[in-house]
Amino acid sequence: MSEEKITEQSLQIQEEYTDMLKDILLIRAGGKQPKAMVRTYGCQQNVADSEKIKGMLEKMDCGLTENPEEADIIIFNTCAVREHAEDRVFGNVGALKAYKRKKPSLLIGLCGCMMEQQHIADRIRKSFPYVGLVFGTHAIHKFPELLYHSVTTGKRTIERGNDDGKIYEGLPIHRDGSFKGWLSIMYGCDNFCTYCIVPHVRGRERSRKHSVILNEAKSMIAAGYKEITLLGQNVNSYGKGLEEKTNFASLLRDTANIEGDFWLRFMTSHPKDASKEMIDIMAENSKICNHLHLPFQCGSDRVLKRMNRRYTVEKYLEIANYAKSKIPDLSLTSDVIVGFPGETYEDFQQTLELIKEVEFTSLFTFIYSPRVGTPAAQFDDPYSHREKAEWMGELLKVQEKIAAKRCAGMVGKQYRVLVEEQAKEGVLNARTQNNIVVELKAPAEYIGTFQNVEITEARNWILRGQIV
Ligand code: SAH
Ligand code: SF4
Ligand code: F3S
Repeated sequence: MSEEKITEQSLQIQEEYTDMLKDILLIRAGGKQPKAMVRTYGCQQNVADSEKIKGMLEKMDCGLTENPEEADIIIFNTCAVREHAEDRVFGNVGALKAYKRKKPSLLIGLCGCMMEQQHIADRIRKSFPYVGLVFGTHAIHKFPELLYHSVTTGKRTIERGNDDGKIYEGLPIHRDGSFKGWLSIMYGCDNFCTYCIVPHVRGRERSRKHSVILNEAKSMIAAGYKEITLLGQNVNSYGKGLEEKTNFASLLRDTANIEGDFWLRFMTSHPKDASKEMIDIMAENSKICNHLHLPFQCGSDRVLKRMNRRYTVEKYLEIANYAKSKIPDLSLTSDVIVGFPGETYEDFQQTLELIKEVEFTSLFTFIYSPRVGTPAAQFDDPYSHREKAEWMGELLKVQEKIAAKRCAGMVGKQYRVLVEEQAKEGVLNARTQNNIVVELKAPAEYIGTFQNVEITEARNWILRGQIV
């Protein structure tokens, strides 16, 4: 039987569980509409997964809530990328105990990347007996069955680590936003950077079909979405392993060519695979935002090698400079790790040099966090957290100056923006194509629309503008 048939069949089974759950959850909630709260930690990939979990809950006739007091089901979708992320989850799960005591029928479930680690599952088993359901990233499509098992037996249900490498298309989805939406184009990661847990918890890289992605994009645009972000851990290797011959550049071109007034973003690009072809397509098509998130992690070749990143600073600069030369007003942004095991102050200075040379619009900066089971966790790590934090302080000062200069250079110019949200009373936040936030004085009806603005003021890296 073909793989598609198998996934179709197993989703049909899930629909049957979904139907059975409608009555069961209603009765458990005392005849009122049951309410579910889904809280997401971590990256956009998790946000996209939570949208599927919410979609499945809605099919069970559950309402969604942000308020744990009124919830009958609470699901935390967790992130394992750094220790801090895991600590937050443990702290917040601990706080759920009080809700469970008040409402014994409350079903508490944990899912996502943390749950794919044995030591975490063990800790939950031992220390959090009131957690009734645990499932990993590979079991999302089975959520109805697992929930059914948990509520009907009253026993703790744990499902993890069964990556069958399949892609389950056709899951229901509840999108959080009405004009900005996420679109996963691939799952997993094969790169095994030595510091990173993601390949261990998300499994091997696999791409969705070109036509399936295009159809989803078309239906989002038809539903009024103004911005779509294509998602993957390494979008540049999109298409590997598919029968059809395709790659990220052609997917990007075909998506941008869909009719309609919308913007297209994508993340994350890996410098080792980012192609000039992709950059040419960005340059040719005005719907593809002039923003490239291209994580460099470290400015020292010696450290990059030990990170298993498989590019050099020279190669990084070549692709970054090519992008800058081709795409007008491009924003380059990046991720940086400070204090990788064995990184010296001299290595770190090379990171600062790279930042000064490229002049990133903004940076996501992280102090290295050891992850159980990754090679780097075994490397010698002679510098203290305090020293690393001092280096980080130095880096942030350098970046602040660069960002302030960039923002100051925008004053007096006009940009098209997508108005996103209310910042405070009478003030809205909008975003330029190159991913810079502009504060506007405008009524809330403008949220979700494109506007042309003139930048009137730059305060450090906060821009103010007015609609023209
Ligand atoms: N696939 C993306 C990144 C996913 S994780 C990429 O390759 O760019 C997001 C970021 O978290 C990484 O870019 C890295 O900067 C950071 N990160 C990952 N593991 C980390 C760790 N163990 N300690 C500190 N930062 C880490
Ligand atoms: Fe982690 Fe590297 Fe994969 Fe990104 S490319 S998810 S940093 S292993
Ligand atoms: Fe975290 Fe998993 Fe994303 S570990 S960063 S939520 S892929």
